[in-house]
Amino acid sequence: MIPPEVIQAISVATLPCFIYHGAAAKKRAALALSLLDRCFFPVKACPEPDIVRTVLAAGCHLDLCSAGDVEIAIAVGCAGDHWKLTTAQADNTLLRRICSAGALLDADSLEQALRWKTCGGTVCGLRITANRPKALYGPKFGVPARDIAVAASWLAAAGVRLEGLHLHDQHANLTPLEFATRLAENLAEVDCAVLRDCRYVNIGGSWPMRHGNPASVENLRHALGILRNGLAALGFQGALWAEPGRWIVEPCGYWAARVAALKAHPLGEKHRVVVLDTNTPIPCRPSLAPFVVLRDGNLLKEPSSLTCDIFGSSNTALDSIGVAVRLPHLALGDMVVSLGQGAYTRSLIPPFNERERPAAIVL
Ligand SMILES: Cc1ncc(COP(=O)(O)O)c(C=O)c1O
Repeated sequence: MIPPEVIQAISVATLPCFIYHGAAAKKRAALALSLLDRCFFPVKACPEPDIVRTVLAAGCHLDLCSAGDVEIAIAVGCAGDHWKLTTAQADNTLLRRICSAGALLDADSLEQALRWKTCGGTVCGLRITANRPKALYGPKFGVPARDIAVAASWLAAAGVRLEGLHLHDQHANLTPLEFATRLAENLAEVDCAVLRDCRYVNIGGSWPMRHGNPASVENLRHALGILRNGLAALGFQGALWAEPGRWIVEPCGYWAARVAALKAHPLGEKHRVVVLDTNTPIPCRPSLAPFVVLRDGNLLKEPSSLTCDIFGSSNTALDSIGVAVRLPHLALGDMVVSLGQGAYTRSLIPPFNERERPAAIVL
């Protein structure tokens, strides 16, 4: 469940820390690539330069959404023709920069796509706003599918060819089939002539991860096959692209911190409140993935007879790391390791309470 090299690294590290398993990230990136014609790794999911280099080595391109992401792409030596920008907030400086690097743009609005033209762009994709979006940001991103044809004609008049469609919504709690069905339903609302002329459809990220477990490659392959057939029936003959972040890197990260306080729990003696010596991300969601305990560098193998609520050390009401987690009898100073913390955890930890962000170690 936790590789021995990760245990070894944690046992000699200064805690709290995050350990990222590079070989695992490379393998999962290759799996994602096996399902797609092109895979863009969203840098924001895990901006550790060594992880970004690793997924590039597996064959991914990069999904960027800020000037800071561009800096990372440059720092890891990724060529501009492997970048793709998607953001609601791109000023002309950023657009000119990515255009001159030879990058792609999935424009967030007609207005952004028209500015892309003034910055040197001649082709771009357009992001679609999901119908009844599941993502918390609702209608923030994209253009409704029914307005895409009109946008395409405005773009053509301005000298910009619409070459792709981009659709990202929240699918984490769906099955692969539900995921593919939602995508297909949204894409079917785009004017057929526009869809037919596109060279790619980018289905974004947030791939199914029910109960924290990434959907299997087999189930995704089946579901994406159905999506491909559905698009083909509408006349689309282009490529299927995507940008899964969490699905690739979440299982590849480990968050280790020492037990700083152990307290009685109102539910009784088989329960504990465990406070770890770490600051926590905002928002901090209790992890659905397993936890393990290390003592003196070894996995504590006693039966998991305690039910623990695990918190970080922030003086807020928002630092719950795990709820009702089954753990062996642990002691002050033991190391608790939370698995499945490779995406959006360390990067969302603020310097709240004047605490340093935990270190990152890439194996
Ligand atoms: C446009 C876009 N693409 C891809 C992603 C990556 O999503 P995930 O890491 O959940 O797969 C996000 C995340 O917010 C996104 O907004």
